[in-house]
Amino acid sequence: MKKVLKIEAVDLFCGAGGLSFGLRKAGIKILAGIDFDPACRYPFEENNGATFIESDVALIKGEDIHNLFTDKADIRVLAGCAPCQPFSKYRQGKDTSADKKWKLLYEFSRLVDETEPDVVTMENVPELKGHKVFDDFANGLIDRGYQVTHGIINCLSYGVPQSRKRLVLLASKHGGINLISPSHSPENFVTVKQAIGHLPAISAGEHHKKDPLHMSTRLSEVNLRRIRQSKQGGTWRDWDEDLMLACHKKKSGKSYPSVYGRMTWDSPAPTMTTLCYGIGNGRFGHPDQDRAISLREAAIFQTFPATYKFTSPDNKPCMKKIGRLIGNAVPVRLGEVIGLSIKKHCEGLPNKLAE
Ligand SMILES: C[S@@+](CC[C@H](N)C(=O)[O-])C[C@H]1O[C@@H](n2cnc3c(N)ncnc32)[C@H](O)[C@@H]1O
Repeated sequence: MKKVLKIEAVDLFCGAGGLSFGLRKAGIKILAGIDFDPACRYPFEENNGATFIESDVALIKGEDIHNLFTDKADIRVLAGCAPCQPFSKYRQGKDTSADKKWKLLYEFSRLVDETEPDVVTMENVPELKGHKVFDDFANGLIDRGYQVTHGIINCLSYGVPQSRKRLVLLASKHGGINLISPSHSPENFVTVKQAIGHLPAISAGEHHKKDPLHMSTRLSEVNLRRIRQSKQGGTWRDWDEDLMLACHKKKSGKSYPSVYGRMTWDSPAPTMTTLCYGIGNGRFGHPDQDRAISLREAAIFQTFPATYKFTSPDNKPCMKKIGRLIGNAVPVRLGEVIGLSIKKHCEGLPNKLAE
């Protein structure tokens, strides 16, 4: 009989721990996460029972990661989701070559070289695929003997109540590895109503007494008028002309119809971003309350469970900080899907590894 393999993982660019928490749900032991943002320490450690290493990934040596894995590990996973801003849609066409973050995937490659994990997984925005840095990353893995698969998925297909397209790469030293099959199709994509319809109503600027994370941004008088005139799934074209912004009247503004828009109860939510708590940053208006979505609602769209702690009970949640952690996260469910894919791959490994 095959023994169950012990899988251990280290999470580079771990953020608040969305990816780690999902991997853990799938049964992978998380040893540590590395991130240079100190705000990640509390949520990462509190929810994942793992060590947070506050550091620039560029300063981490292979030996540091090597020492984190225990003797019990049958399979060592190096996971990571490097910051995606240099590749995001909104920056296409702008010169991002000077952006230091470009080189972070090369740091990930270097750490793969220095630690030789059994499995590597990387998640990022789809736009990364057209860039040399991604080809170098994937080809580097192939040169080192890994079998690599990658593809662009929409998280909707795995039951996330949010349209979020992501590039997912899986690589193994022990043969082919694939993402598990999607669980959802357009007929049963999870809607905004199914995800957040049960939450108590709050007004703009209010936080719910029993749930401090259920808080929404205060709105100015003019923005309150704007959201009141916005229809579910509509655009700023529904507003009185005096409410329109100068940029709406320009040709260039017409390509952002979602900004200041309300979500629709019967559709999935749009992609959560680090600024998803502000109606001026996308279609982040609540379907029928006159406010932007709350941090709790954003966390639910990212499939964080209600028990996930983002800040210590002594601290009042900071909209900007927690919004950044939530918007940056890999949806927990996608992390779980990646974890289940790794587990499935391990189950199929030859006896010499599993015995
Ligand atoms: C897309 S987020 C990762 C989200 C995380 N995987 C999750 O699921 O919650 C990218 C993270 O990289 C971190 N980061 C950016 N540059 C870094 C660097 N040079 N060293 C370490 N962390 C860095 C950011 O602070 C951010 O938390």
